[in-house]
Amino acid sequence: MGDSEVSENIIKPRDLILIYLDVKRQFLIQATANLKLSSDLGNMDLGDIIGKPFGYVGETHLGNEFYCLKPSSADLMFKVKRKTTIVYPKDLGYLLLETAVGPGSRVIDIGTGSGALTLVLAKFVAPDGMVFSYERREEFIDNAKKNVERAGYIKNVKFYCRDVPQEEFSEKEVDAIFVDVPEPWGIVPKASAALKGGYHLVSWSPNVEQVKRTVEALKVHNFTRIKVSEIVEREILVRQQGVRPRERGITHTAYLVKAQKVNTKH
Ligand SMILES: C[S@@+](CC[C@H](N)C(=O)[O-])C[C@H]1O[C@@H](n2cnc3c(N)ncnc32)[C@H](O)[C@@H]1O
Repeated sequence: MGDSEVSENIIKPRDLILIYLDVKRQFLIQATANLKLSSDLGNMDLGDIIGKPFGYVGETHLGNEFYCLKPSSADLMFKVKRKTTIVYPKDLGYLLLETAVGPGSRVIDIGTGSGALTLVLAKFVAPDGMVFSYERREEFIDNAKKNVERAGYIKNVKFYCRDVPQEEFSEKEVDAIFVDVPEPWGIVPKASAALKGGYHLVSWSPNVEQVKRTVEALKVHNFTRIKVSEIVEREILVRQQGVRPRERGITHTAYLVKAQKVNTKH
């Protein structure tokens, strides 16, 4: 594509669209013919949405405007059908940049849960990379598969129904390992064996006690440059009557651990 060309911004069949009326009324939908949506601000006839550009402004039957927006990666995560808690964009944004993951990477993700992390990893490793996602509960995999499929990245994910400390990873020499299970320290020995020397393991835990055990396990299993952080996000309300932080919102999500593997000395 030349400098003067721009990529096509037209809504195509199966594209995901964020239909936005206001902060309380936002819907992630897939473009299909004959699509209709209802809200207390009116019904939206989306039957002719295919072929319109993103950014299109429509009107409900009650005369309220709605906007057809491009969903962000965070939207894709928040709108998954949840069977478990999910990782939060503020935490994943930071941890992703603390790894070397990019297009073509091969990464392991444990546990799959609702697949919120899985689908963003798949988006970042696409078009040629792979996410190997491990989960011990079959019913969670079924739901996560649907979430990843809807986001459009199913060909970049291979799911395994396995209890990880008990069973091996099928992959060796992966580019990163993402751990989101209640007992990350149990995963560390097998993770160390599956990860490329010099590359990254990252892990989420809500409690400090979990982090302490994980860091101890990382030290024993050839990891260095271990760092634990917490990301605090505060939304700021910008209003005529005064600008200040919102009083409510997500406070604590997880402590974040990152580490890099070194090879054993010969
Ligand atoms: C908090 S959820 C993961 C959420 C996921 N990262 C997301 O963003 O949707 C933790 C998941 O790990 C799974 N799990 C826990 N221990 C496991 C193990 N030893 N092996 C495989 N999966 C495990 C649980 O069944 C659960 O689905």
